[in-house]
Amino acid sequence: MERTFVMIKPDGVKRGLVGRILQRYEQKGLRLVKARLMEVSRELAEKHYGEHRSKPFFHELIDYITSGPVFAMVLEGNKAISIVRLLNGATKVEDALPGTIRGDFAVSTTENLVHGSDSAASAEREISLWFPDDSTSSLSASDCL
Ligand code: RTP
Ligand code: MG
Repeated sequence: MERTFVMIKPDGVKRGLVGRILQRYEQKGLRLVKARLMEVSRELAEKHYGEHRSKPFFHELIDYITSGPVFAMVLEGNKAISIVRLLNGATKVEDALPGTIRGDFAVSTTENLVHGSDSAASAEREISLWFPDDSTSSLSASDCL
């Protein structure tokens, strides 16, 4: 079983798409194991997207991610990391195919609704960054059953 960090970005929350986006991951067979609706500090956003620090879009990206609450989660399942990336769709808006979340709902490369970890190492880093204290800072669906 693999775990991945997934985030519905501020545009997804503002547009009321949390339920529809989560449904796509769940209907594929991925299991929600942690979730939290949260405001994002600039510090957390800059750490999360640290690999893009030198890119021309970095400041726009940080402004966007901190512009409103995000829905942060951990999803679990076989090949969860690559399956989430497939369901999310391509980064460039003109490459995001219909049938993917970005392809169906987004018209901007920056405001593209969702994030998914891009490797096992990223997933591990991002899960501990966004859910640093397992027992208190997140709600685990399995705890509520
Ligand atoms: P993410 O990390 O959010 O899952 O997205 P990704 O892997 O598909 O794409 P990445 O290259 O990691 O870019 C991170 C986020 O930065 C914004 N972006 N804007 N204006 C631009 O050229 C541009 N390029 C990337 C997007 O919000 C992208 O998801
Ligand atoms: Mg990325």
